[in-house]
Amino acid sequence: MKKERRELEGRAAIVTGAGRGIGRAVALKLAEAGASVAVADIELASARQTAAILGRKKAPSLAVAVDVSEEASVAALARAVVDAFGRVDILVNNAGVMFRTRISRIPIGEWENTLRINLTGPFLCIKAVLPWMKKSLYGRIVNVSSSAGRSVSTLGGAHYTASKAGLLGLTRAAAKEVAGYGITVNAVCPGLIDTKMARATTTSDELRGFIRSFPVKRLGRPEEIGDLVVFLCSEKAAYITGASIDINGGDLMI
Ligand SMILES: NC(=O)c1ccc[n+]([C@@H]2O[C@H](COP(=O)([O-])OP(=O)(O)OC[C@H]3O[C@@H](n4cnc5c(N)ncnc54)[C@H](O)[C@@H]3O)[C@@H](O)[C@H]2O)c1
Repeated sequence: MKKERRELEGRAAIVTGAGRGIGRAVALKLAEAGASVAVADIELASARQTAAILGRKKAPSLAVAVDVSEEASVAALARAVVDAFGRVDILVNNAGVMFRTRISRIPIGEWENTLRINLTGPFLCIKAVLPWMKKSLYGRIVNVSSSAGRSVSTLGGAHYTASKAGLLGLTRAAAKEVAGYGITVNAVCPGLIDTKMARATTTSDELRGFIRSFPVKRLGRPEEIGDLVVFLCSEKAAYITGASIDINGGDLMI
């Protein structure tokens, strides 16, 4: 029987924050769909662990240390990916941080750090990959926002909500600018997903309470975000751009 070509075969992807959680699941799903994946994370050891999992599945990958909030670090990431794979077709801006601090107690440093990682980071990554995508007249950019960006965060503080709402604005502005180059830019907006970020910032009582309030009575799974990202990166999603797509078990319906 003829082997079917996988839908992202020949594509090269960057996933930031791919050392664990949603980013790792996205990297695995993109690799299963045939893409070569640069696993970028501020923690190189965890990026290497994800790359090792991909290696065991015989998927081409590259572990890269990056701080998405630093322009020079992001530029070095783009160079490393082009050196390794010769192209960049897909960028998933997933790296992010979340703090629960309330406004009157947020130190300016924590505010700025959250905005730099969650909003400036995706801007820098988009800026760094655009020349390559424009040259090939093809690209798929997916920004991992949150229900927080669509409404208000269940857990996070004002800095988290502001950064994720800003990311939706960046998504729309970038989508409008680059559509003529065959590049789509979309955002996914997860609800509460079962990762270290969710577990480390809540008590188990709180989690049980949240789950009881969701129409679909469980946390989301990182792999479910991965499946949505793969769809947005596929040919089937060529007419979707500038969109913010909810994936939250019905927790937020707008
Ligand atoms: N877990 C949830 O419930 C949830 C819900 C909505 C949105 N999100 C978003 O999904 C994304 C991933 O979340 P997660 O739950 O997997 O989080 P996580 O904390 O488990 O993983 C985040 C990853 O990002 C990396 N990272 C942090 N700062 C970085 C930086 N400056 N440069 C590069 N990498 C950096 C971390 O090392 C880590 O590997 C985040 O943007 C988060 O805001 C998560």
